[in-house]
Amino acid sequence: MNIILLGPPGAGKGTQARRLVDERNMVQLSTGDMLREARTSGTEMGLKVAQVMDNGHLVTDEIVIGLIRERLTGAQPEGGYIFDGFPRTLAQADALGELMADVGQSIARVIEMSVDDDVLVARVTGRSTCGDCGEVYHDVTRPIPADGACVKCGGRTFKRRADDNEASLRTRLMAYYKQTSPLIGYFHAKGNLSTVDGLAEIDTVAACIAELLA
Ligand code: AP5
Repeated sequence: MNIILLGPPGAGKGTQARRLVDERNMVQLSTGDMLREARTSGTEMGLKVAQVMDNGHLVTDEIVIGLIRERLTGAQPEGGYIFDGFPRTLAQADALGELMADVGQSIARVIEMSVDDDVLVARVTGRSTCGDCGEVYHDVTRPIPADGACVKCGGRTFKRRADDNEASLRTRLMAYYKQTSPLIGYFHAKGNLSTVDGLAEIDTVAACIAELLA
């Protein structure tokens, strides 16, 4: 089963995607992670996108569609794909439909994670991730264990993202409302949209998603 997690920055898409990978053997395709990987590798494309990302704007459709196209070739994962942070524009949504059709697949469910803007600042400014495995933490709601070791891999280095500040978040939110939120209507019209309360506790959100995928 292939699914899309849709929601504003800090809605909890990455957190839930990682659980689905562990629990349902799904493959997470996060365009944000792919772009961050590209920028650290120092490629021409990475350098081009770095400033755009730090300022909270969207990278071009051409670049992100190209990244997803590369990942969809080859054997399809048994547990299905989780599209995390993609699509983010109507052009990306159309392209995904075509790419999936090309590999004989489709999107079974689009899960919108609904949250209030005022919690998002606290969520993103408090976020850190394990430098080794990417496990997501939060200073208050999911702190790094007292022994300083990641619960998942035991790693001891943790990172904060350059775009996790209030100014960049405001721009990211604007991009979400202008360019991404029209996808809610798009997928509703296609008949595969469901909404979960992203303000609930992480385990509760996970249980709601599990119910939708049962
Ligand atoms: P991307 O990496 O996709 O970031 P985002 O969409 O802004 O989403 P985030 O990763 O910030 O949030 P999330 O929803 O995954 O939340 P998380 O689970 O981490 O994109 C970054 C940039 O790349 C974009 O701005 C753009 O420039 C570019 N880009 C990426 N894809 C693109 C595309 N398709 N097109 C064009 N440009 C693209 O949770 C956040 C925090 O909250 C964590 O600390 C977590 O512990 C905590 N938390 C999570 N759930 C809960 C909960 N239920 N209760 C309490 N705390 C919670």
